[in-house]
Amino acid sequence: MSIFTKNIIPTKPPLVRGDGIFVYDTSGKKYLDGCSQTLNLSLGHNHPKIVSATKKQIDQIYYVSSRFMSPSIFELSQALVKISPINLTKINIKDVSGSLANEAAIKSARKYSGKKTILSLDSSHIGQSIEMLRASGDANLDYIGKDGYKMVKPPYCPGFLSHSEKEDLTNLALTEVEKIIQDSAGIIIEPIMVSSGVLVLPKQYIKGVRKLTKKHNSALIFDEIQTAFGWMGEVFAADYFGVSPDIMTLSKGLSGGFPLAASLFSEKYDVLDYGEHEFTYGAHPVSCAAALEVLKVMKDGKTLKHVKKMGDLSQKLLLEIKDEFDVVYDVRGVGLIRGIEFYDQNKPSKKLRDKVEENCFNNGLILRNSSSNHKNVLIFKPPIIIIEEEITSAMEILRTSIRKSL
Ligand SMILES: Cc1ncc(COP(=O)(O)O)c(C=O)c1O
Repeated sequence: MSIFTKNIIPTKPPLVRGDGIFVYDTSGKKYLDGCSQTLNLSLGHNHPKIVSATKKQIDQIYYVSSRFMSPSIFELSQALVKISPINLTKINIKDVSGSLANEAAIKSARKYSGKKTILSLDSSHIGQSIEMLRASGDANLDYIGKDGYKMVKPPYCPGFLSHSEKEDLTNLALTEVEKIIQDSAGIIIEPIMVSSGVLVLPKQYIKGVRKLTKKHNSALIFDEIQTAFGWMGEVFAADYFGVSPDIMTLSKGLSGGFPLAASLFSEKYDVLDYGEHEFTYGAHPVSCAAALEVLKVMKDGKTLKHVKKMGDLSQKLLLEIKDEFDVVYDVRGVGLIRGIEFYDQNKPSKKLRDKVEENCFNNGLILRNSSSNHKNVLIFKPPIIIIEEEITSAMEILRTSIRKSL
């Protein structure tokens, strides 16, 4: 009998070694990591610069309370503010997870406005702490409730819709926000809803929400936990969409595999008092040392261009796969965040998606299943260092695995 609780029983073999975009299990079997583990390893496995920076930090001092502001915390905070949208001048880096960074954002929006309600999108995945389950549109758990949150529909626009169909859906979704935004402290959105099946919010929608939040003085919060740090061919989704939020939350790719999260605020949302949002392992110096290496890569400019090129190649190859198989309903995304959606007999098919995922895994390609209301999507979000031949090889495994699953 397993010692693990039902919600964490392991379903995959243990991994024991990682190198670049590859991992190896206990039997020595090699896998191409097409989803950067938990969609977080921006620079892949055991990146030499992260290995050496973190070792150096450990040798010097491996833990400092964030109240002491060790040099790596200070340096990272400055670098993050510098690279972020210009209005975001304040940072809290004392979080260890995306869920907590989102809590900092929501605490601040509520405290600033004196209002409790936060709008969030149906199907969104904002985190798994109790409060963030309430905030997430993908979790409707009776024992949690939705107190303090109102869900609005995102404009779900599969890639093949015409421009005017997308416009209609966008306007409809904006009308819903407009009706209730004035009574709300703010709205939290993931510019690409990755876990929910790579739903890319249309630029017009994001711009429209920006306009409405400005008009009603409510906070626009970007949850950039999935989108930041290069995967979109820009450092942030805010850069890609040309829209600056009032608050932006970061984790996952930020520190390339070490626990860390941060929230950035415009001046007026810097309202939490000293000690009102900090955690023992927040701003961990080892994680900060890793994050500084990620930021160096962001700044060199070459990597972002590389991601755009690799993203275009991925989409081209995915479209070829879509043409070949009727069961592939849509392929979509931006840069190196791509979703592959499966239908069987004209209906969304989780069963087929799961079979393809399993066959991919057996053939040496790790992909991630979407959760939420769109459970028929596979997520391809490899480390941003992936090269052309590796993308071609991942797509070949995907093709073979779909064929085997029919
Ligand atoms: C968009 C988004 N926000 C927040 C979270 C929560 O992050 P964490 O698991 O670090 O708490 C996730 C996790 O997958 C996420 O995808």
